[in-house]
Amino acid sequence: MKEYSGKIRRANIKLFCGDAIELLKYIKPKSIDLIFADPPYNLSGKNFLTCKSGRIAKCDKGSWDQLSNIEEFNMKWIKAVIRVLKDDGTIWISGTLHNHPSIGVILKKLDLWIINDVIWFKPNAPPLRITNRFVPSTELIWVASKSKKYNFNYKLAKSINNGKQMRNMWILSAGRHKTSHPTEKPEKLLEKIILIGSNKDDTILDPFMGSGTTGVVAKRLKRKFIGIEIDKGYFDIAEKRIKNTSEFLLI
Ligand SMILES: C[S@@+](CC[C@H](N)C(=O)[O-])C[C@H]1O[C@@H](n2cnc3c(N)ncnc32)[C@H](O)[C@@H]1O
Repeated sequence: MKEYSGKIRRANIKLFCGDAIELLKYIKPKSIDLIFADPPYNLSGKNFLTCKSGRIAKCDKGSWDQLSNIEEFNMKWIKAVIRVLKDDGTIWISGTLHNHPSIGVILKKLDLWIINDVIWFKPNAPPLRITNRFVPSTELIWVASKSKKYNFNYKLAKSINNGKQMRNMWILSAGRHKTSHPTEKPEKLLEKIILIGSNKDDTILDPFMGSGTTGVVAKRLKRKFIGIEIDKGYFDIAEKRIKNTSEFLLI
């Protein structure tokens, strides 16, 4: 396996450039505490339109977001990540209507325990020019595990939610991107996931690392991190971003 972690001389952070389905074979079984996966949603298309800065624009995130068989792809990578997940670990998978039905069915088929579906509501979602539908302003995050005994920091979730039980709808604006990656996730979203689903020194895996958001937050919160990204350009962005992040514990 080719490892491009040369410049990051920390055993705690391992970054790999290549196809996650292939590279995951080299990771030890049951060695990961938390997986955050932000896979291709398959929402790009030649004839798909979106609204950018108030203007109609083509919805094209890149060729990586155009899969001929999304079910087959989802089944392959989910099987591969489940092999490396610890029995008490959790997997968090983000999506939209383009891929979350397929993911939900696969989680069931693989006999995984679905803990929650978290709805991420973006109050600042851009308006639509077309008038035949609602403005898409949510993403859904499946939270699942291998068994009914899994790591979930309930008290911490309550404490970061003003002492109230945390609900499964998270209201969070999609902030300004820090990189040129078209689907960069907000660091605040990953902070919540990593704090609630893992502990200091746990190992976090992101098989579709993109611009490295998960790695940045994992490092900041003193977790170990394994990141995989197929595109060398995005890989370089992630590597630089993670390298320039300093560690500190929020809580
Ligand atoms: C939705 S984006 C992830 C964005 C990321 N969460 C962030 O905050 O920047 C999905 C990423 O997966 C990568 N990708 C697609 N297929 C892949 C594969 N088979 N193995 C590894 N990475 C892949 C794409 O190049 C893209 O950067």
